[in-house]
Amino acid sequence: TETVEFYGEHQAGITTRQQNSLVFAAFDLKPTTVAQVETMMARWAAAASLLAQGKPVGPVESRPMAPPADTGEAFDLGPNRLTITVGFGPSFFDDRLGLAAKMPEALRPLGQLAVDTTIDPSISGGDICVQACSEDPQVAFHAVRNLARIGRSVITLRWLQEGFGRASATSTDQVTPRNLLGFKDGTANIKAEEPAVAEKFVWVGEETDQPWMKGGSYLVSRKIRMHIEAWDSDDISDQERIFGRTKDSGAPLSGGGEFTDPNFTVKGTDGRTKIDRFSHVRLAHPDSNGGAQLLRRGYNFTDGIDVRTGTLSAGLFFIAYQKNAHEQFARIQNNLAQDALNEYISPVSSSLFAIPPGLTGIGDWYGKKMF
Ligand code: HEM
Repeated sequence: TETVEFYGEHQAGITTRQQNSLVFAAFDLKPTTVAQVETMMARWAAAASLLAQGKPVGPVESRPMAPPADTGEAFDLGPNRLTITVGFGPSFFDDRLGLAAKMPEALRPLGQLAVDTTIDPSISGGDICVQACSEDPQVAFHAVRNLARIGRSVITLRWLQEGFGRASATSTDQVTPRNLLGFKDGTANIKAEEPAVAEKFVWVGEETDQPWMKGGSYLVSRKIRMHIEAWDSDDISDQERIFGRTKDSGAPLSGGGEFTDPNFTVKGTDGRTKIDRFSHVRLAHPDSNGGAQLLRRGYNFTDGIDVRTGTLSAGLFFIAYQKNAHEQFARIQNNLAQDALNEYISPVSSSLFAIPPGLTGIGDWYGKKMF
């Protein structure tokens, strides 16, 4: 199966053509030292470079009286385009390690945004994050499990989220997939084939107050529950009004095909704009947000059913990458306070992580220039 290059200017798993499965884990530090965290990051870098090639993280049968170095469940599966993306949360820079002076300004917490009335802190935040994406769910799970195992004296799992299908497209050679509301998601996204757009909106540049972040990015994750049963009883014309696009082709209601730019001024015979002013696409569009754009890389999830109500517990695990989440994600999210879609969704988690740049080669590790 196919391999994604592990070393490079940027970490893989951001502009990489989006894979079909996600396992995302957030970890908290145990009482530890900077030296121990650095050692773990160096071991993670070595392990991740092997995992990306579809290799086990260590020899299996070298010491008969010790547990095998690799847990084994990915032995025969190949790399399956595995990418591992590692980052640091705001809490990593609190008093415990004494690294407060290394915290980027842009990593200050997002705080409570306009729609944030239902956020569960126990599935939000964390000191360190790992995003594992692969075409095979077991390959992604294996990666996170083995990194957790390598780090077990330094960190403990805080929360973990699986995503069973991609809900975005990050390459023009990918078909736009659908989210669980049945609409194409990822049509108007930053794509790998537009490096100049990524340079402007995704990668941290000279503007940062922390040189170690140059070439990195900021990740926002939001677990968003969908009220699926209510949605499923809504008229198709209302569903399309809410997004501002058709369900079938994904074309904007102002006309054209899936990739035609929406026109927010075209009016119908009733004198109203064809794209509703409270539609998701209009309120999320760069024209409504001072030009701000995001690279969206979310996944569909389900947690089974909500036993209190007997309804499906499912939705979108939204992930976005950007140069500055305060100026990009938070700005757009606050503009979405009036989104017609809000009737059918509730955010249940919210996290922000600083994603350092890519690793240059053997001997480099996550955040090496920061420590
Ligand atoms: C566009 C779905 C949450 C930002 C879209 C589109 C769909 C969609 C169907 C149109 C197709 C496309 O261009 O990809 C959803 C669903 C959500 C959700 C189901 C929640 C469950 C969010 C959030 C944000 C966001 C939380 C950011 C704060 C955007 C942006 C666009 C977009 C920036 C592109 C707008 C444009 O340039 O035309 N979304 N979205 N979405 N969404 Fe969302």
